[in-house]
Amino acid sequence: MHSEVVAVLDAPSLDQIETDLLIVGAPTHAFGLSRPTTREDAHQRGGELLEFGIREWLESDPVSLRVATFDTHVRHPNLPGHAGQKAAKKLKKLGCTILANSESFFVEGYEGPLLPGELDRARKWGQDLATRLRNHG
Ligand SMILES: Cc1cc2nc3c(=O)[nH]c(=O)nc-3n(C[C@H](O)[C@H](O)[C@H](O)COP(=O)(O)O)c2cc1C
Repeated sequence: MHSEVVAVLDAPSLDQIETDLLIVGAPTHAFGLSRPTTREDAHQRGGELLEFGIREWLESDPVSLRVATFDTHVRHPNLPGHAGQKAAKKLKKLGCTILANSESFFVEGYEGPLLPGELDRARKWGQDLATRLRNHG
């Protein structure tokens, strides 16, 4: 199975994509998908300033792709709201089929890195997706 990882800034527009499965991941910002203000805040904390995010990328014409979503999220405090779930809702509205429930992977503190074990959990999640995809036909 061939896979490709693309940053949102380099991604083709959603309606140009042809793939068996599109996986969309985003950091959770202010209980959901990032906005210009939250990305500015992340930049103030030392991150790169990104002028475009998944929220903007998902402002698209209808598409009928098979998709799954995930996010990164703080563990403590256990805040409500997950960027992956918000992205899944938008993708469903656009006409996509959701292959699996969105998953969150937890980071240390507010800024990361990923907590121990999370990368393994992400790998397993990816393997489960591949199995579902095969069974889905
Ligand atoms: C402005 C801002 C708002 C955030 N809001 C939340 C939040 O509501 N819930 C949460 O779990 N994490 C929140 N975080 C933490 C981010 O989820 C975390 O920094 C990110 O997932 C790390 O991934 P990255 O290194 O790819 O950005 C926020 C971070 C920033 C900068």
